[in-house]
Amino acid sequence: MTRVVFVTRKLPEAVEDRLRRNYTPRLNPDDRPYGADELVERSADAAAILSCATDAWPAALIERLPDSVRAIATFSAGHEHIDLAAARARGIIVTNTPDVLTEATADIAMLCLLGAARRAFEGEALVRTDRWTGWTPTQLLGVELNGATLGIVGMGRIGQAVARRARAFGMRIHYFGRQRLPPDFEQGATFHQTMASLLPEARFLSLHCPATAETAHMINAETLARLPRGAVLVNTARGALLDDEAVLAALDDGQLFAVGLDVYDGEPKVHPGYRTRRNCFLLPHLGSATLETRHAMGFRCLDNLDAILAGRPAPDTVN
Ligand code: DGY
Repeated sequence: MTRVVFVTRKLPEAVEDRLRRNYTPRLNPDDRPYGADELVERSADAAAILSCATDAWPAALIERLPDSVRAIATFSAGHEHIDLAAARARGIIVTNTPDVLTEATADIAMLCLLGAARRAFEGEALVRTDRWTGWTPTQLLGVELNGATLGIVGMGRIGQAVARRARAFGMRIHYFGRQRLPPDFEQGATFHQTMASLLPEARFLSLHCPATAETAHMINAETLARLPRGAVLVNTARGALLDDEAVLAALDDGQLFAVGLDVYDGEPKVHPGYRTRRNCFLLPHLGSATLETRHAMGFRCLDNLDAILAGRPAPDTVN
């Protein structure tokens, strides 16, 4: 069996070193995103593909992969960019990297929440452009976290990690998820059986669910109207969860005080409306971007490939 692993993006050095030790990696030193044809061409003779959320693997592309490919390990928790059923039909095992990015992503959710609530973008711009004329009693007044309710949509690992952090800021936690958590995990949070009952409670709302057909545009004109007036919305999950036009309209009419976004529909494209509004705190998909977490994600991909290529079950199989 071939030991070639096609690696679609440049990975941290320690991960590429381990790849070199154990495999024949086909690397991407320039980190140039490959188009569909190039993804297939570079998979020639490969036993596995180490892919990222920036590569799209629809059924039509998976069908064109050589028979040598036995696994696609995605360097991400999300796997909506891969047609899992098409991969299964080709006998290709798909794995992801759950758990290891929980804490880093929860940190970025808090950064977005604080950045939006405390007008960090406007404050920074004032200082950087030398327009700050000094402290005033009414300058850049924001929204206080202490005593406010944070609504969490999707109370999996990342949602729970955000809840832990938010409690330390004095926030009350309400959540909506597929099922109610046991008390040890719930930690006093209030469960809602529907989004409709959660939204009116949530002065702050943070999204932590995957992008699926059911969650696409879950934040739209109708759901935004159910939030308390002047709410703060945070999205570190996937851009497809938001109807961007509805969010921009809610920012303009004051239904939303601010948004904190780390992810965008059709990345790296960002709806231009976010860039021009002062009440948007925007980051470029940094959720898992710490060296520690990116190492852990890479090693998790390699643990999965080691198992699959040795004929053992992979711990993080998703299809
Ligand atoms: C993930 O792991 O899903 C992150 O958002 C990076 O794509």
